[in-house]
Amino acid sequence: MGLLTATGVVAGYGAADEILKGVDLRVEPGEIVGIIGPNGAGKSTLLKAVAGLLKPKSGAIQLDNQDITGKEPRDISRMGLAYVPQEHNIFPSMSVRENLEMGGYVDPKGAKERIDGVLGRFPVLAKKRRHAARTLSGGERQMLAMAMALMVEPAVLLLDEPSAGLSPVAAEVLFDAIIKINKEGVSIAMVEQNANEALAISHRAYILVDGKNSRTGPAAALAADPEIRRIFLGG
Ligand SMILES: Nc1ncnc2c1ncn2[C@@H]1O[C@H](COP(=O)(O)OP(=O)(O)OP(=O)(O)O)[C@@H](O)[C@H]1O
Ligand SMILES: [Mg+2]
Repeated sequence: MGLLTATGVVAGYGAADEILKGVDLRVEPGEIVGIIGPNGAGKSTLLKAVAGLLKPKSGAIQLDNQDITGKEPRDISRMGLAYVPQEHNIFPSMSVRENLEMGGYVDPKGAKERIDGVLGRFPVLAKKRRHAARTLSGGERQMLAMAMALMVEPAVLLLDEPSAGLSPVAAEVLFDAIIKINKEGVSIAMVEQNANEALAISHRAYILVDGKNSRTGPAAALAADPEIRRIFLGG
């Protein structure tokens, strides 16, 4: 049993309730798991279903051997899973520090200590803690979004396209931060458009196509597979 295990998840939106057509996902303690695949494959939908934003039509999701299928996002968050959405993942008009307070709202006790801890991890944010979040660079905003998620001290962190829109240099800085967070004991499932880089920092990976698992395995093996290189990694 993994730390996070999703089995046969069918989920979607309103009438289109089978965007995910029975997807499996597993995250073991200490892992970075990459999730890649074409636009519209259902990668974001999978993270939303795991985080509780979408109620699966069928299938099961377990976190640390507890059933979380269909639970409310805040309950799932309290149980140790944090989710950073693809978009609108910070409050632009609030300060960096206020954003971190929002990240810790589910458990305001001890929030000050946790803010100090999180700011210690991200010196750029510490320096700008009184600045409005909208004044941060793209990379700093993604750092802030991750820092907010870390306020609940999660066992598992779900990241939806953390490097989207960033320059190669900013993306590299962000991936380094992700590796560091992982080394501190947070297991990570990360959706990435930047497939080569995602496979480079992941232990294992999943390729989703049209709402289904296409390939899965050690990230290095997938990255070395000629067919995967040709179809998903640009040669
Ligand atoms: N809120 C929504 N309501 C209805 N359909 C949606 C909604 N969000 C996504 N979809 C549909 O679900 C399918 C999967 O979308 P999803 O966002 O999960 O793909 P993705 O793999 O994350 O793609 P991308 O790489 O572009 O982010 C798409 O066909 C999309 O149109
Ligand atoms: Mg997406």
